[in-house]
Amino acid sequence: MKKCEQMYEGKAKKVFATDNADYCIVSYKDDATAFNGLKKGTITGKGVINNRMSNFLMKKLSDEAGIPTHFVEELSERDTLVKKVKIVPLEVIVRNIAAGSFSKRFGVPEGTNLNCPTIEFCYKDDELGDPMVNEYHILACGWATREDVDTITDYAFRVNDYLKKFFLERGVELVDFKLEFGKTPDGTIVLADEISPDTCRFWDAKTHEKLDKDRFRRDLGHVEDAYQEMMKRVFGEN
Ligand code: TMP
Repeated sequence: MKKCEQMYEGKAKKVFATDNADYCIVSYKDDATAFNGLKKGTITGKGVINNRMSNFLMKKLSDEAGIPTHFVEELSERDTLVKKVKIVPLEVIVRNIAAGSFSKRFGVPEGTNLNCPTIEFCYKDDELGDPMVNEYHILACGWATREDVDTITDYAFRVNDYLKKFFLERGVELVDFKLEFGKTPDGTIVLADEISPDTCRFWDAKTHEKLDKDRFRRDLGHVEDAYQEMMKRVFGEN
């Protein structure tokens, strides 16, 4: 499929039209932002890593966990062909261990194991600071239907079950992560956006060293090293 005009530029990816209206091409950048775009920087090589890792994980989730995704084909180091979807304007956050905004909001120290996984929905709007919303807000504002919310919730916990085990086998604790979902023209909900060190918290299972974008958000240094290390954990040494 031919890469046509740019449709959209996000904080970490560009989206291009193709010559087929049902598909588009996402192109991963090295740009990094935090705090709803207030902090800006570059993580060299991030786009290549996130593209490869996200595609690999989405394919596994589809093949082995029955989660429908937008992934179609990896086209190059940074470019991937995906199904064109209408993004549901929600960030869906699943947590296994307290960290980040959960720890701040509820006063639960970082690193506390949660009794069971939790889910949060945030309305995707940088200017509003992606406020946390509940199912009533979602239905009242028409961001998704009840059926969509039920499907998304089911998929999000199934993604968590699969990925928690996948990463633990590679010596990594999946602390929490953010998913986004989209709707295809026939109304099917599919997993969209990306799954990468930008959108997950990964801690080394033994040392609890942070191996994700928190190194950038919190100025911890060795940001590129952390992304490279996660690449090794997922794909092995080669
Ligand atoms: P939080 O603790 O800051 O709410 O983040 C929860 C998870 O969601 C964490 O793995 C990072 C991810 N995340 C994003 O992918 N995008 C965002 O804009 C934010 C705030 C968090």
